[in-house]
Parts: sequence; C-alpha cells; structure tokens
Amino acid sequence: MLVTDTTACADLDREITAKPWSAAMFAEELELGSLCLIAEPDDHSLAGMAIARPQLDEWHLLTIGVRPEWQRQGVGRRLLAAVIRRAETTDFRSVMLEVRISNKAALHLYQAMGFQPLYRRPRYYRGPDGWEDAWVMDFRTGKKSTLRAGAMAPEA
Ligand SMILES: CC(C)(COP(=O)(O)OP(=O)(O)OC[C@H]1O[C@@H](n2cnc3c(N)ncnc32)[C@H](O)[C@@H]1OP(=O)(O)O)[C@@H](O)C(=O)NCCC(=O)NCCS
Repeated sequence: MLVTDTTACADLDREITAKPWSAAMFAEELELGSLCLIAEPDDHSLAGMAIARPQLDEWHLLTIGVRPEWQRQGVGRRLLAAVIRRAETTDFRSVMLEVRISNKAALHLYQAMGFQPLYRRPRYYRGPDGWEDAWVMDFRTGKKSTLRAGAMAPEA
C-alpha cells in the first residue's frame, strides 16, 4: 500500500463495513510502519486490503477486507497468508485478531487458515443493533516469545 492507495482503501472499506476506516487512518498505519497490504488484480483496481501492526511479540491484524465482487476467490486467504508470513519471518510469536461472533465469513477464513479461538470478549463491537461480543483468535508461528518474564511489571 502506498499513500496514494489510501483513498481507494477507504472507498473499499465503506463498501464492506458499517464502521469504515478513513483514508487518514490508513495513512497513519503506513506512517507507523504497520504491514499495509493491498491486493490488485491485473487491471490495477483494488480487490482487497489488510493492515497488521506489530505489538510486543505478536502482529495484531487490525483490518482485512475484500471488495464484494472479488470475494470467495482466494483474495482474503492470500492477504492473510502474507500477514502470517511476515510474522514468521520477523520471528514473532503469533498473529492475533478480534472478530465479531456473527461474522461467519471471517470466522471460516480464520479457522481455515489455522487460527484458534482464545476467548470471547464481551461487548467489544458497537453497532446499530447494540453491542456484540468478539472472538479473540490467534495463529501461533511456533517461535518463542521474545518478551522477558516480568517485562510488563510496573516499576518498583
Ligand atoms: C472475510 C473476507 C475478508 C473473506 O475474504 P475472501 O477473499 O472472500 O475469502 P477467500 O475467498 O480467501 O476464502 C477463504 C476461505 O474463507 C472461508 N469463507 C470466505 N467467505 C466465506 C463465506 N461468505 N461463507 C463461508 N465461508 C467463507 C472459506 O473457508 C473460504 O475457503 P473456500 O472458498 O475454499 O471455501 C471477506 O468476506 C470480507 O471482506 N468481508 C467483509 C469485511 C470483514 O468482515 N472483514 C473481517 C473483519 S474481522
């Protein structure tokens, strides 16, 4: 993803989510050094995007989306595979994500790619019909955590 792609990414997100990201939000992730991926078919129109941010010893998948006319053609799978590959090549312990418990397509995708549910986070998403729980899921790369025991403990 380049900064010139961020408006198209925001347009795509408006097509597929109730709470879309703005172009400025995508640009901010680029500036932060997050993994910002786009899927472009041959004609250079945008088919999908994914954003993941490195946090402690895991990559956090912040968003992934595929334009409706490109769905069920393997685009989401390839974007997610690229995120997993990045986690493996950077020696991170895992890729983690949150997903609405009602989002069957995303849940199927994550399970098909080897993600496991960790726990259910109550009232994580707010929508027009009220609050909804999320599944927190992760994919383990097999790498050891680089965090030292007690590294997160407050200063004495
Ligand atoms: C979830 C999403 C990214 C999947 O992208 P996609 O390109 O359609 O997914 P793929 O074609 O790579 O599908 C891979 C696998 O995911 C599962 N899957 C994807 N869409 C599915 C659906 N509608 N119903 C059931 N399973 C589905 C299947 O297991 C599929 O494998 P298969 O086609 O061999 O059966 C896409 O539906 C999307 O953009 N949804 C709206 C945005 C969103 O919900 N993002 C996730 C936020 S957590």
